[in-house]
Amino acid sequence: MEKGGFITVEGTDGSGKTTQIAFMEKYLKEKGFEVVLTREPGSTKISEKIRSIILDPEHKEMGYISEMLLYAAARAQLVSEIIKPAVENGKMVICDRFVDSSYAYQGFGRGIDLKTIADVNRIALDGMVPDITFFMDLNPRIALGRRMAASQADRIEKEKMDFHMKVYEGYKKLVLLYPDRIKSIDANKDEQKVFNEIKTWLDELLA
Ligand code: TYD
Repeated sequence: MEKGGFITVEGTDGSGKTTQIAFMEKYLKEKGFEVVLTREPGSTKISEKIRSIILDPEHKEMGYISEMLLYAAARAQLVSEIIKPAVENGKMVICDRFVDSSYAYQGFGRGIDLKTIADVNRIALDGMVPDITFFMDLNPRIALGRRMAASQADRIEKEKMDFHMKVYEGYKKLVLLYPDRIKSIDANKDEQKVFNEIKTWLDELLA
């Protein structure tokens, strides 16, 4: 069967990823694709268990390296159990966060060098590089305000604003490092306008 596609969505917490993923799913289904939605860390039984270990606000003693490895472990399971088989079977996979989150949060945020993260994730990814990645560009000062108003903060969200700004600046550097793959989307607009921008890129990808 013809190979499908792999789309990832990135951004600071509360940048509107969920809404845009729902729009993308609808649009791609209308185009006749079978769409598989996943999120990171999570989406498989094992990855969801790893997620609860990583995000538990009580795990204050978690070291940065174990944090990075746990994200990679959750990712390896998701790639082998869901993403790779789905894409190979012609499906369109949309993943809420993927390896760029590790570069942004563990790399630029925590200060682990990007090469170490790339080396570890080369094993986890097993060759699965996204066809396109959308970076929802919204300053964390706005984005996190939205998030905190909506739900209880997890261990990562509880980090200081200084950390979230490093992550945000990191994402912007990733856009410059991988301009062909990562598309920056101005997320500080009406959600329909945001989707119109995404749709243009999707149409180009499908063409
Ligand atoms: P989640 O509740 O899914 O956040 P959001 O809804 O904003 O996507 O929690 C995932 C958290 O984990 C989020 O704060 C980003 C962080 N994260 C990393 O630090 N590294 C990673 O590799 C991934 C996938 C997520």
